[in-house]
Amino acid sequence: MPNGADIPFYLPVGNECRLFELAFRHRLPLLLKGPTGCGKTRFVAHMAAKLQLGLHTVSCHDDLTAADLTGRYLLKGGDTVWTDGPLTTSVRGGGVCYLDEVVEARKDVTVVLHPLTDDRRLLPLDRTGELLQAPDDFMLVVSYNPGYQNVLKQLKPSTRQRFVAVEFDFPPPEVEIKVVAAESGLDADRVQSLVMLAGRLRAMKGHDLEEGVSTRLLVYCATLVAAGLPLREAVQAAMIEPLTDDADVKKGLDEVVLAVFG
Ligand SMILES: Nc1ncnc2c1ncn2[C@@H]1O[C@H](COP(=O)(O)OP(=O)(O)O)[C@@H](O)[C@H]1O
Ligand SMILES: [Mg+2]
Repeated sequence: MPNGADIPFYLPVGNECRLFELAFRHRLPLLLKGPTGCGKTRFVAHMAAKLQLGLHTVSCHDDLTAADLTGRYLLKGGDTVWTDGPLTTSVRGGGVCYLDEVVEARKDVTVVLHPLTDDRRLLPLDRTGELLQAPDDFMLVVSYNPGYQNVLKQLKPSTRQRFVAVEFDFPPPEVEIKVVAAESGLDADRVQSLVMLAGRLRAMKGHDLEEGVSTRLLVYCATLVAAGLPLREAVQAAMIEPLTDDADVKKGLDEVVLAVFG
């Protein structure tokens, strides 16, 4: 389906668009799993726009508490006024609430999510005494990166089993070439060689690298090349330096670049 002018560009890889739409229509929460920079956030923005839903995105971090999502009393001109957080705003008004990297958030966040993610679809606000019922057009979407080797940063089974889940990965080359060309404006030939290089660099993941080159970094690299930076410099800046600080690992990556570009 062509992307409309005001719908963020997203090229589907599998059945994720249909799955998102079905989950929305049937009021099911959705979990997106996948590495950084593979298109999860773009996908959510695209689908929210396509379904004409408002979108509240929260980038979770290790200081994020339930109150940051639900809301809190704030001092306003001498009065304390209740102020909805992004989750409460979405539940009151409908639309998509997207919690990016949800495992990063404090533990008390899951307590808030549980009643919202079963068929009750409730959001209790202890501080105001309200019990909000999510409207039909409310949808909760969360993402996390299962690649991080941190047992403390895993989603608990009791939480993850409340979501319909889609696995994301970097798009296959033929899709990734189109994505990177569309995002950067670089010609397809040069994009193709960058995507090929990314494939080689990704194959080194696990040995010394925690994460492979993301589609995001490929877009950065292609954007720099399209802007006139010499290829090797763009590769260095966008596909090598962001991946590692280790001199030996860098050398290994450089060798791969040399093998591909000569
Ligand atoms: N399937 C896709 N269609 C369009 N753009 C994509 C796609 N996959 C990745 N991208 C590009 O990659 C960038 C990073 O994707 P993003 O959604 O921010 O990653 P994530 O949220 O998974 O970390 C986007 O800004 C976009 O340029
Ligand atoms: Mg994201």
